[in-house]
Amino acid sequence: MRHLRVPSDQTQVWLHRCRQEGWLSKASVLQLDEGMRGIPLQDHAPEEEDGVWQGHVMVHREPKQQGPSHWTDQLPPALRALPFNIWPSAYEIQGDVLMVKLEANVTEHQHAIAQAMLDQLPNVRIVCADNGVSGDFRVRELTPLVSRDGNLSTRTRIKEHGAMMWVDPSEAYFSARLSTQRQESLERLQSFRQRLGRGLVVADPYAGVGPSLPLLLSEPDLLSGYLAGDLNPKAVDLLRLNVEIWSAKHGGELNPALQVCDDARAWQHDPMRSGIADALLVNLPHDSLAHLPDLLPILNQSGERLLRGWAIVERASLPQTKEDLIAIAEGAGATAQSVEVEEIKGFSTTRCFIAFNLILAWE
Ligand SMILES: C[S@@+](CC[C@H](N)C(=O)[O-])C[C@H]1O[C@@H](n2cnc3c(N)ncnc32)[C@H](O)[C@@H]1O
Repeated sequence: MRHLRVPSDQTQVWLHRCRQEGWLSKASVLQLDEGMRGIPLQDHAPEEEDGVWQGHVMVHREPKQQGPSHWTDQLPPALRALPFNIWPSAYEIQGDVLMVKLEANVTEHQHAIAQAMLDQLPNVRIVCADNGVSGDFRVRELTPLVSRDGNLSTRTRIKEHGAMMWVDPSEAYFSARLSTQRQESLERLQSFRQRLGRGLVVADPYAGVGPSLPLLLSEPDLLSGYLAGDLNPKAVDLLRLNVEIWSAKHGGELNPALQVCDDARAWQHDPMRSGIADALLVNLPHDSLAHLPDLLPILNQSGERLLRGWAIVERASLPQTKEDLIAIAEGAGATAQSVEVEEIKGFSTTRCFIAFNLILAWE
């Protein structure tokens, strides 16, 4: 196919001109040598000698076909003829695992859908049907549909705030949605560190695979130690794998440096895990408030401590939440020096997803 050879900074000008004149072919623009581009031309475009090309020469190259722009373009022709609105409009990708919720009316085509997605998205290794989350561990029920290399494992690596992290959506909870909250945890802990004038021991007893930790561990001198755990043994396996990588980058000594598989409410009975932390993260949104009285003993109960957590509450009871938090603090013998409750937008109309931040003080 004939391509007009133009300097790359003139590509847009010539694309526009050829499109206007009806000379542009549907193939893609080629990258040629030395900062030159090749504009693909239709057969009826004028010959090279024509003055319209202002002296630019033509080269003959294989046309580079534009890839399909949507995964449905990869479906077999018989399925492409079905109405577009039956196909799933959204999917989620974690690392190289794609998860798609399928309505009952397309499950008979689930393998064709999965294959089309795999063909369209080169970085995806496995496509799974996502049958929703279940149980206390909030783990997704996934059905692998197609794998690029035959490997049906859903263990994969993602990158968040510059840190690599092992996740496995079929074994442990992880959501990228809270990544800005994790950034805010870092900022709040940094200012609390300044307030105390020393490195902090942070406890994260619902840590999952540990996404709150890499930002904290990579901040010089922020942490003097950490306690992390989860009740789901498979989450703790991934947590251990992740923490090993992140703490190697931390450099300094961390004491304590603990990863446990246990019910967070039982930590209060272990002297190695109670009365120790300067800051406590509580991320069990459906039950955070109910668990809190059993968790506050994890904090070192002398001086000021930071409590940060997330909860789902009925919108109607939102005004009461601050009062409830103050009462829980007082029940543990502390004074709530400051209480902030902030709604995280876009959750539901009847229920609110909130972040709460308290500075607690013990005599
Ligand atoms: C909402 S997830 C949060 C995980 C992690 N912090 C994150 O942001 O990805 C809640 C975690 O708590 C764990 N979990 C549930 N009940 C628990 C309990 N009683 N004690 C400790 N962990 C628990 C679940 O397995 C899950 O990993």
